[in-house]
This record gives sequence, structure tokens and C-alpha cells, in this order.
Amino acid sequence: MAEGTPILHSNPSSNNHASFEADSSILKIVGGHRLSGEVRVSGAKNSALVIMAGTLLCPQDCRLRNVPSLMDVSRMSEILASLGVKLKRHGDTLEVDARHISQSKAPYELVSQLRASFFVIGPLLARLGVARVPLPGGCAIGARPVDLHVRGLQAMGADVQIEHGTVYAYVPGSNKRLKGARIYLDYPSVGATETLMMAATLADGETILENAAQEPEVIDLANFCRAMGARIRGAGTNTIIISGVPSLHSVDYSIIPDRIEAGTFLVAGAITRSDITVGPVVPDHLAAVVAKLQAIGTTVVEEGLNRLRVVPGDRHIGTDIETLPYPGFPTDMQAQFTALLAVSEGDSIITETVFENRLRHAAELNRMGADIRVKGNNAIIRGVPFLSGAPVNATDLRASAALVLAGLAAQGTTLISGLHHLDRGYDNLEAKLKAVGAKIDRIVGEAPAPSVDVVATTTRPRTDGLS
Ligand code: EPZ
Repeated sequence: MAEGTPILHSNPSSNNHASFEADSSILKIVGGHRLSGEVRVSGAKNSALVIMAGTLLCPQDCRLRNVPSLMDVSRMSEILASLGVKLKRHGDTLEVDARHISQSKAPYELVSQLRASFFVIGPLLARLGVARVPLPGGCAIGARPVDLHVRGLQAMGADVQIEHGTVYAYVPGSNKRLKGARIYLDYPSVGATETLMMAATLADGETILENAAQEPEVIDLANFCRAMGARIRGAGTNTIIISGVPSLHSVDYSIIPDRIEAGTFLVAGAITRSDITVGPVVPDHLAAVVAKLQAIGTTVVEEGLNRLRVVPGDRHIGTDIETLPYPGFPTDMQAQFTALLAVSEGDSIITETVFENRLRHAAELNRMGADIRVKGNNAIIRGVPFLSGAPVNATDLRASAALVLAGLAAQGTTLISGLHHLDRGYDNLEAKLKAVGAKIDRIVGEAPAPSVDVVATTTRPRTDGLS
């Protein structure tokens, strides 16, 4: 394995330390500044996490390139290390050696910090015939059940029991090999599609996944597995066919750009009325996002093969959005568009159909002067001329991005706490925004209690001539 920084299975408190620092820090944003230039997009979080789990399928070296620097990636590395995997990171490249998996039990204290750690169950069952993985549990946006993962593994011959919050799974029989099966997913779940696709790569026979998820990250995982010698057809459609093979081999694989990070930056351009370029991207991955930006009144043009340029319109007009499985509008962009529509003219209705509790950012945006009423899974937005900076608290990953976007556009200063959410899924967000002109700083240490000064600078500018 090449030189690099070994990632050891340190105690989880190391993650807790970073998380504690993020928890006690705030982002200070002085709004109203235009952005200009090009924002760099990192590798896709939702590819990196599942592909890292997929390295468990391979008894040889795997090299992953374009791996983003995220808290979630660090946590996934810890979980793999706890299973006996050797990892070394140098820059955005991760060298993974899963030759010797020393145990099949993912530790609760790590799993509880990273839902995506559940992705190890499929590869462990396929490689070892046994897996013990704590249930990931719910999170801020919903219950996040894993019944589709479990039922699919059972269809492939695994014996799966859930006791005391842990999933105990094993493959009966002498050869401990999963069997190919025809599986219909009640919902095109991204995670269930990925778990079952990975499990099927080493199964005996053919597996057909029907009503499968079509997200680009599913295709990325399939391409990674095929590069290791897996036989997979149909990824990106609603029917994926996997013919099991006896084993997989080394791979050197580069992860796709993060379409949600890219979409977040496109909205940053639109909400600050800035002309900026975002890249690298795969333009097709952002078709629904671009369509909605254009409907609102911005222009988005392709620059070269892999960059998008956003040019703000004279007026931004409200529009309705319904989140759907890919290729529909992505739920991971819903919070960011809520912020943009909050300062677009007229009324908009956002309907969140994927997760049951993903509108909590509305309350925090209302504290900044937005006019959003939440009724069930609908956010009814009445556009206001401007937002005003305020101390706000992030409730989940994409909500924190929405608050950053709102702060960039607001009049006055916004202080955002709850940064552990942001750091899970964005790679140096404030540095990237600062590089194109945003007035954004991370203040490490106790978040200042709102004081008269802070309140004074965060309300709308005085119009009575008094400073
Ligand atoms: C993945 O989550 C992403 N996470 C999410 O990104 C993304 O929002 C989601 O897909 C939808 O695109 C990763 O890839 C790590 P699902 P996942 O299974 O796989 C229900 C972000 O912000 N469901 O497609 O958990 C579930 O409750 C994160 O980057 C079941 O009922 O999403 C939800 O309502 C957030 N049973 C719906 O399906 C199951 O067994 C979609 O979930 C599985 C899911």
C-alpha cells in the first residue's frame, strides 16, 4: 500500500472531539455580498460512504480517489478499521486493504454516529456469511427503517434476527453463500438497492432487483463493483440484474462529484444574485435542480464538459417543488430551495414526499424573516423582499446548508450553531464560499450568547438615521 496517513481504530472520542469542537463553534456570516469566481466541488458523500463499505467485498487492495474530507467519511473509516480493514489516506485518495476482516460486529458506539455504517451488512454477509450490525436508528429527518434491506437479504437466504437493537444475520449451509433471488422493492430505496446489489455480487446465481433506486450514486457503486469484476447490468434503471461471481479483485476507482454540494453552490449563486461557476459536475445529475432554478428565473449554462455557470435573473419568481426519487427533484436539495424560494416573489409550495420530518429548517428561516407555514409534509412559502440575519440553530445536514444560504443573502449578521450537522456532509464549505467572496467565518469556542450588540446588528438596518 502507498505511503499515507494510517487510519487506526482509535477510540470514538476522537470523533467526539471533532464533534464537540463543531458543537461549540458557530459560523458568522455577514450577508449581502455578491460572489464571483468558480467553486470547487468535492467527491460525492453518498457515493464515498457506500463504496467504502463495498471495499469489504474485496480481498485485495482498493484505491479510492476523489474522496471528500467529511466527518462521515472519517467515521466510516473508523468502522472499517474496527472490522480489521487497513486504511491509509493521502489527500483525497484512500488506500483500503480488506484482506483480513478480523470480526463481523460493527461497534454500537460508532454505528450510532453514522447511519450509513449499516451499509457494511451486505458486504459482510457476502464475504463472511455472517454480520452483526446495530440498527442505525432514526435521525432528525425521519425514522429511517431498514426493513427493505432486511427482507431482501432474507430473500437471498440469510437468516436475519433483530434483538436488542442489533441485526444478527448469517448464511446457513456449508458454503455460507447467499443465493440469487428476484426482489421487488416496495419503495425505490437508495440504501436497500445498494445493500442488496453489493450482497448479490458474490451470491450463487442471479439476483434481479425490481423497482430499484436510479440515483447516480447507485450507478457509481455499480461501476465500482464492476471495476472489481462484478457482473451488474441495468444500474440507473429500475431493474438491476447481478450475476454472482466467486470473488472480486483490486480496483483503482474515482468517485463522482457531489451533485448535492454542486446544487447547494448553484443556489448560493442564485440567492446572492451572483454569477458564479461550479465544477466539476456531471450536468445530467443536476437536471431537476437546473430545471427548477430556471423556473425561478435564473439562467444555468454548461461551461466546458463539467462545469455549470449560474446567472441570476432580474426577478426570481416562486414555483412549486415536489421531492421524488431520482430522476425527480432530490430531497437533499429541498432545504436549500426553501431558502431560495423564501426570497423569491409570490407563493411557492414545497412537498416533501421522501422523508417524514424534513421541514424543520422552516422555523429557523422564519426567525430570519421568512414567511413559511408548514402543514403536514408541505411548506407553504410566501416570498419576502429580504431576510434579516439572526442567531439560528441547524437541525440536520441539509437544513444547515439552507441556513448558510439564507445568511449569505440576509441583511446583517447571521450566527449559525449546530455545525456538527454541516461538517458531516460538506467538505470545507466556508473556505469554498469565502474563496468566492462570501463574508463567512467559523468562530471556534463557545457560541456567544445573543447580546444587545449582536441583536442590534442582526435586525434590519435602522431607518431612523440612528446608528
Ligand atoms: C440515501 O439515504 C442518502 N444517504 C440520503 O442522503 C438521501 O436523502 C436518500 O438516499 C434519498 O435520496 C446516503 O446515501 C448515505 P432511502 P437512504 O432508503 O438510503 C424509506 C443526505 O442528506 N425506507 O432511499 O436512507 C425511508 O424511511 C442524506 O445526504 C424504508 O421505509 O434513503 C425513506 O422514507 C439524507 N425502508 C425512503 O424510504 C427501508 O428499508 C427513502 O429512503 C429503507 C428506506
